[in-house]
Amino acid sequence: MKITIVGSGYVGLVTGACFSEVGIDVVCVDIDQSKIDNLNNGIIPIYEPGLEEMIVRNMKKERLKFTTNIAAAVKESEIIFISVGTPPDEDGSADLKYVLAVARDCGKHMNKYTLVITKSTVPVGTSLRVKKAIQEELDKRKVNIDFDVASNPEFLKEGAAIDDFLKPDRIVVGIESEYAEELLTQLYKPFVLNGHPIIFMDIVSAEMTKYAANSMLATKISFINDIANLCELVGADINQVRKGIGSDGRIGNKFIYPGIGYGGSCFPKDVQALIKTAGEYNYDLQVLKAVEAVNKAQKSILFNKILNYYNGDVKGKTVTLWGLSFKPHTDDMREAPSLEIVSKLLKAGARVKAYDPVAIPEAKHHFGDTISYYNDQYEALIDSDCLAIITEWPEFRIPNFNVIKKLLKTPAVFDGRNIYDKDEMRQNEFDYFCIGVDTVRYILK
Ligand code: UDX
Repeated sequence: MKITIVGSGYVGLVTGACFSEVGIDVVCVDIDQSKIDNLNNGIIPIYEPGLEEMIVRNMKKERLKFTTNIAAAVKESEIIFISVGTPPDEDGSADLKYVLAVARDCGKHMNKYTLVITKSTVPVGTSLRVKKAIQEELDKRKVNIDFDVASNPEFLKEGAAIDDFLKPDRIVVGIESEYAEELLTQLYKPFVLNGHPIIFMDIVSAEMTKYAANSMLATKISFINDIANLCELVGADINQVRKGIGSDGRIGNKFIYPGIGYGGSCFPKDVQALIKTAGEYNYDLQVLKAVEAVNKAQKSILFNKILNYYNGDVKGKTVTLWGLSFKPHTDDMREAPSLEIVSKLLKAGARVKAYDPVAIPEAKHHFGDTISYYNDQYEALIDSDCLAIITEWPEFRIPNFNVIKKLLKTPAVFDGRNIYDKDEMRQNEFDYFCIGVDTVRYILK
């Protein structure tokens, strides 16, 4: 079996690497020549645990190749995945120009039956536009070649993408022909051996499934954040409430951790896109609008706590941030809460020092020299007034609290991810603030 994946970004690379890992011949295509040159030299443009090793291993076995030559790649394969970017355009809707350009390339170059599968997250109805674009190109060529389109959304979590691909909870595929179903059943066979289902459905439902899944997950997070904020006011502890509700199987204990708002490349974009789609049908998605509003407000929560602690004035204070990426095990800072917090701190006249295990190069693109960067989490605390936990990297979980206290000017820790125990922090004589716990009662002074 031979497949082509067009778009060698995050999703394309993980998809290509994982298919080649199970012995399928994969050609990954991108228009960016320097990216392809780097990949051919084993230089991977993103940080994702296990990805580099997997790519290099399969390149050596010559079953994973990188090229800019889309014409040749389309001709060589019966199956083509589209996994190019769909950046939001000015009004927040997904910009489909790259997806449709690939569809046109498929129509221009295919010379036998081809199955074109959309993997990029695209608005409901896009696969039909892909089909139309391919057909238009075939008509221009005046050739009659049979083809199918399909939708196969990805559910990869950054930082755990390889595992998610190799051992998926489920694979969702939208198809409109039996032959396409047969091809995809064959292709995904190695990944469903241990009982994980491949769920076939119609194309529009598959496209909708992706948005509904991410919106449901975003809803869980905004819901728990809303309840956490109320817990602070009534004197309850969200950590206990979370355990209490999570043990109900209908609710489940996953994805109900309060924090400083969801970020990343998917949730914010997908929630906005679904609200927009609903609007096009004159339907008001009220729940999702609230999910978005709560998330926006939640990104300021930690800054507000810091401001309150210093009686409304952080001018001249130095705040150290541990973690900058939107979540651990990635250097991705898209929609990260750190962007909001840094901007608010700087605007209020504070200085910011930051440490992150992998995201500093990425952070420099966002903050330039407006903040200071450190390669060591303790060094970043020297001469700082307080510490704020922004990302729950494992290395922050059991730090040396004595060193932290010695280095900080005020013993204040603002924990945006609830990684510390409030009683232990009190024993360690910290002023400790987290999310959803009335820690004001615990302040030492
Ligand atoms: C998500 C989906 O999980 C994945 O299936 C989809 O394909 C792409 O979007 P990802 O963006 O990589 O994946 O991150 P995820 O681990 O899901 O976390 C998203 C955000 O939610 C992060 O900002 C995280 O900090 C936040 N989060 C998650 C919480 O605040 N609380 C939780 O309980 C879980």
